[in-house]
Amino acid sequence: MTDLTNMLSNPERLETRHFIKGRFCDGASGRVFPVYNPANGARLTEVADGTAEDAVAAVEAAAGALDDWRRRTAKARSGLLKRWHALIAEAREDLATLMTLEQGKPLAEARAEVDYGNAFVEWFAEEAKRTNGEVIPAHLPGRKILVQKAPIGVVAAITPWNFPIAMGARKAAAALAAGCTFVLKPAQDTPLCALALAVLAREAGIPDGVFNVVCCEDPAPVGTVLTTHPEVRKVTFTGSTAVGKQLMAQCASTVKRTSMELGGNAPFIIFEDADLDAAIAAVMICKFRNAGQTCVCANRILVQDAIYDEVVARLHAGASALVAGDGLAAGTTLGPMINQSAVRRVNQIVQDSIAQGAEALLGGQPSAPEDRFFLPTLLTNISPQQRVFTDEIFGPVAPVLRFESEAEAIAMANDTRYGLAAYCFTQDLGRTFRMVDGLEYGMVAINEGILSTEVAPFGGVKESGIGREGSQHGIDEYLDLKYALIGGLG
Ligand code: SIN
Repeated sequence: MTDLTNMLSNPERLETRHFIKGRFCDGASGRVFPVYNPANGARLTEVADGTAEDAVAAVEAAAGALDDWRRRTAKARSGLLKRWHALIAEAREDLATLMTLEQGKPLAEARAEVDYGNAFVEWFAEEAKRTNGEVIPAHLPGRKILVQKAPIGVVAAITPWNFPIAMGARKAAAALAAGCTFVLKPAQDTPLCALALAVLAREAGIPDGVFNVVCCEDPAPVGTVLTTHPEVRKVTFTGSTAVGKQLMAQCASTVKRTSMELGGNAPFIIFEDADLDAAIAAVMICKFRNAGQTCVCANRILVQDAIYDEVVARLHAGASALVAGDGLAAGTTLGPMINQSAVRRVNQIVQDSIAQGAEALLGGQPSAPEDRFFLPTLLTNISPQQRVFTDEIFGPVAPVLRFESEAEAIAMANDTRYGLAAYCFTQDLGRTFRMVDGLEYGMVAINEGILSTEVAPFGGVKESGIGREGSQHGIDEYLDLKYALIGGLG
């Protein structure tokens, strides 16, 4: 096993046990599961393997802590979140190192993710104080109508491996700010970042039971408790559309609120009037950051006829220059896939598409048989029936399509059951607004390749999900409206 403690400035930030009711603990079964470095398959450490019993203990801890937490002033909750934010910032390098070790992304991207995730903690520390209600002019004399915002209660979060800090932080910060208590189940590939967040939450003085983490190798037993336990009033999930649908069905039995941030199939549209240097730089980041394992990354690159050949040539040059390797090594710009089953999945999508007529101008396969990396891939001759057009690829694979007119681009872009993010490069002002209006997506970026920020509402339409994270709207996902009619006022 790798000696991880040597790699951190503060070895106490490495924790491998569940965090329940303010204590790190081994869990009911005493079992552990391995965590691997996706860059080389080395066993990094072993983490407590949670059971349904552990999940129940965490939910009960969160339920027990709820009354005290929601009764605290918003300013008090805000102060603790600010302290958590400061400690996360102080631990940036250790968190980024843990992230690269367990997730694989290049260290520079890991540092950026720590900052991104922590920005939500700061944002919601501020928003905690702004959950204002309303006074509505009453319908009858001698009455007042008040609307208050009340914390939903216990929140369970199920988070993915592709952003192991940011997805947990943006859900937890909003929930805690609202006065909810929280149980986090991180992905089995990346539990160490979530547990490090728990170390810092405890150090920040967040009360026992307010923030809990249960890790597990098999997500089903813990997930079933989180989606069916009557004390859990809200489930927030980031992950695939298939799993999201299953969780929503499970949540129906106790009518839980849900937020679902699900899969995407983002079009990245480049018009002939675009600033091409800016468009190429943006599409390279949008497509290849995190090795393409991002739900908002460009999934289909649509290029107007007149500039198609030039864009393909420039993408070929850009993708050929990527340096695949261990994310901790200087110069690495493309990390591994999260695990070998992810490599096989992407390979299957690519091979199926090639069998359906796509042509690989670059890459098109794993870097070696049974390898952990997928070669940066450029595909042309794409048709809407191919899997690279219909499926979320989640790998460093860039299918490039040709279109002639604006109407055709919009129709191609919208020809999907997903609706998370869309990107468009144009310098035409009228077209800018027509694209914003015409694209059936929750988020549209014009002349930008990255749109995620804590100040804007992140989320999708269609089968990409329900709910928004970040912005002034994000905290409402954790609040119920309570209407009070006060009569007898004379
Ligand atoms: C995701 O890919 O799941 C989230 C991406 C982001 O927040 O930018």
